[in-house]
Amino acid sequence: MNVAFKDHADLGYRQAEEKAAQYFASLKLQVKEKTYVPTLTEDFHLWKKNHIHPAWLSFFSKGKKKPDTRDYNRYIQWLNATGKLEDYLDRSVSYMYMRDMGKSLNSPATQTRIQHVVTDIKNHLIHSTSSNKNKEAGLETMSLAGLYRWGQKKGIETDIIWLINKLRMVSIHVPEEISAEHAQRKLIKIIIGVVLHVVEDMDDTLSAAERAKRLGEAIRLGYSYGLTYPFIDDLLDSTVLTPTEKEQYSRMIRTSLLTGTVPKLSEWSGSNQELIQYIHAELREAFEYIRDYQRPDTQRIFFEQSYVFFHSQEIDRAKVLSDSTYTNEELYIPVILKSSSSRLIVRSIISAPVDEGFDDRTFYNGIYNQLADDFADMFDDMKDGAVTPYTYYLKYRDQRPDLINPFEMYWSVISHLIHHVHHSDPKTREVILDRAINGLKRCKVRVGTEKYNEIMDIFASGHPEFNRLVQHMVRKADNVDFFDKLLRDQMVTTLKNDRQEKDDFHQAIETIRQQINDILSITKPNDISPMQEPLIDAANYSLEGDGKRIRPILTWMMGVNEYGLEASAIVPLLRSLEYMHTASLIFDDLPSQDNASTRRGRPTLHQVHNVATAELTGLFLILRAINEQSSLGQFNAKTVLDLIHYSAQKTEEMCMGQAMDLQSKGKVLTLEQLNMICFYKTGIAFEASLVMPAILAEANESEIAALKKFAYHAGIAFQIKDDLLDLEGDLFLLGKPTGQDAENNTSTFVSILGQDNAKKEMWEHYCLAVEALKEMPRDIAFLKHLLNYFVSRDH
Ligand code: IPE
Ligand code: IPE
Ligand code: MG
Ligand code: MG
Ligand code: MG
Repeated sequence: MNVAFKDHADLGYRQAEEKAAQYFASLKLQVKEKTYVPTLTEDFHLWKKNHIHPAWLSFFSKGKKKPDTRDYNRYIQWLNATGKLEDYLDRSVSYMYMRDMGKSLNSPATQTRIQHVVTDIKNHLIHSTSSNKNKEAGLETMSLAGLYRWGQKKGIETDIIWLINKLRMVSIHVPEEISAEHAQRKLIKIIIGVVLHVVEDMDDTLSAAERAKRLGEAIRLGYSYGLTYPFIDDLLDSTVLTPTEKEQYSRMIRTSLLTGTVPKLSEWSGSNQELIQYIHAELREAFEYIRDYQRPDTQRIFFEQSYVFFHSQEIDRAKVLSDSTYTNEELYIPVILKSSSSRLIVRSIISAPVDEGFDDRTFYNGIYNQLADDFADMFDDMKDGAVTPYTYYLKYRDQRPDLINPFEMYWSVISHLIHHVHHSDPKTREVILDRAINGLKRCKVRVGTEKYNEIMDIFASGHPEFNRLVQHMVRKADNVDFFDKLLRDQMVTTLKNDRQEKDDFHQAIETIRQQINDILSITKPNDISPMQEPLIDAANYSLEGDGKRIRPILTWMMGVNEYGLEASAIVPLLRSLEYMHTASLIFDDLPSQDNASTRRGRPTLHQVHNVATAELTGLFLILRAINEQSSLGQFNAKTVLDLIHYSAQKTEEMCMGQAMDLQSKGKVLTLEQLNMICFYKTGIAFEASLVMPAILAEANESEIAALKKFAYHAGIAFQIKDDLLDLEGDLFLLGKPTGQDAENNTSTFVSILGQDNAKKEMWEHYCLAVEALKEMPRDIAFLKHLLNYFVSRDH
């Protein structure tokens, strides 16, 4: 290890520690002298004018009872109708500017910025919560389609596609003990924070291209930094790794920060090798991205702050609750350091010039947030045996009268922030006290009144009068809730539900797939002559391969789950779809077409037998499909005729699609032609899978039209993904060779547009399909997950 580098880091740490110690000494004095009591008492008296209203006033607003905040749309509408929306948003945005951006709220420039942001959000919310029937409206930007559409507006599609993929990988790899939703939420929050810093630094004269470039970088930097939360902090806090593994892991991080280079992952002794391999690769990429982004003059600061951040966390984490001897300094100084450096670092990550005002305010802000968070988490932390100022005080307050009461420390910090850091600025007072009372209210709701009072008896007994005042505010004060809290709650709920639905979807797919596999095999009649057998054997050979069965699965989900048809009644339809599809693959693989040697993990049919057998088997399967359809005996004869009519038409069109595909080899196609070929050769089969059960259920025309529109875009997205997999997929997973399209000179989205633009087209069709879903008369949740699966599948 480079000794000078290490000395430098140690020196940086000692300096930061020194500053934290000074800050702590001043806070300690304020706690001891209880200076926060008279100051905040006066502040609350000023503050309550806007928050506590005489009883008679509430009489008038009875008609407009406040809806449950979980009913997002109605709540926003209610805030708007009662004239509270603007203040509500202002509170959150101002708070964010103060806390995350380290701004001073009394600067006119900042006020103007805040006003703009509030107006933008307000317009967006009013528009989206009133115009959309969807219960999640307004949260659309939280969906992948919403995110992608936003990225398109900013010209950063490639970065958004990159991010979507990264977030997906994180959620796949996060160990169960670390909540995937919270990991994603934290990451998103950090990314937003970094993006906001970058946006704040852009002036209006920048070209659109330059803005897009910076925005894209901000997203990548944000992700790169955000990754350290689930994969360093949460991981080391959890029990996923054994103590020896943790040690190994910490050493690796420390070496990276001290040398500027991530060491290779050589031997890993422990059971989490696969997890560590992923994390190591991901963190290395992230670290190198940030490092290489640094300008020479900010690089040193970046390394210094990262080291302070990491090292203070290590020191903080090493404390154990069973040790009764920690001094107040040992308890608080690492907390001050880790909480301030985690925010200070954001500006050095984006390689921004030093801003003294920001550094100063951010430094003092840190512990304030940490104490608020630790207060909310104190029981969880207690269960985990984690040392925080609260858990430690809970445990040792009787035997250690010297311990500082963290709740008093919290109020001292608040008082210090309002009066010393922000020079008694009224707006700052307003926002910070809003936040404080809101925090207590939320805690009271979460733990229940009884438990809440117990907590207050422990922490707030030192000053009964001040406590009475605070509790009065907690009971009576209004207009203290925050938009960012609402978003946070909504985001966690949405992510949780999404994950649950997604798991259910994959579970369902697996179950249905098994059942479909059981009905596919073509049985031979008892009196069959040996000469008739080979063709049936050949058909069964192709059917037995490891196909995904997506088409009949879709039909099952629509038919049985959505339209309530009997599964047994539609068995012939399920078979017919997979027979048709398998036939199309047999033809597609022929030497005269794609000339493929492997399909569904096995040699293609013409390889096993010969071309003639393959051709005849394809034909046989198509006719067997019609045979099955005509045996849909439990449905009205006219309906079945309609179905066969539709099916024949679609099969003709698929043949045309395949012909178009083959004719266009080596040709330059327009987007329109590409879409047409893809829809005909691939999309139509998906349309049929959705529309056929609708025909049997005699669904109305408008519903069928909506299904067709969805299928059109979903089908094209599926084929583009297939083209991408041909380029970047894995033979073993795919069960068919890669690189076939290039070899055959097939004109695909990838060959014509290039990989990146093909991805953009895929996401465009993804969004169009999502939008088609929203127009659907009924809410078919699984189609959304189907679509996610289409674009994220690896086979
Ligand atoms: C392959 O379809 C042919 C295309 C339309 C791209 P699938 O990807 O559904 O193939 P199997 O049925 O799972 O083998
Ligand atoms: C297949 O397109 C279209 C069919 C419906 C057969 P591809 O030729 O890209 O399919 P794979 O990649 O061979 O499965
Ligand atoms: Mg083909
Ligand atoms: Mg092919
Ligand atoms: Mg292909």
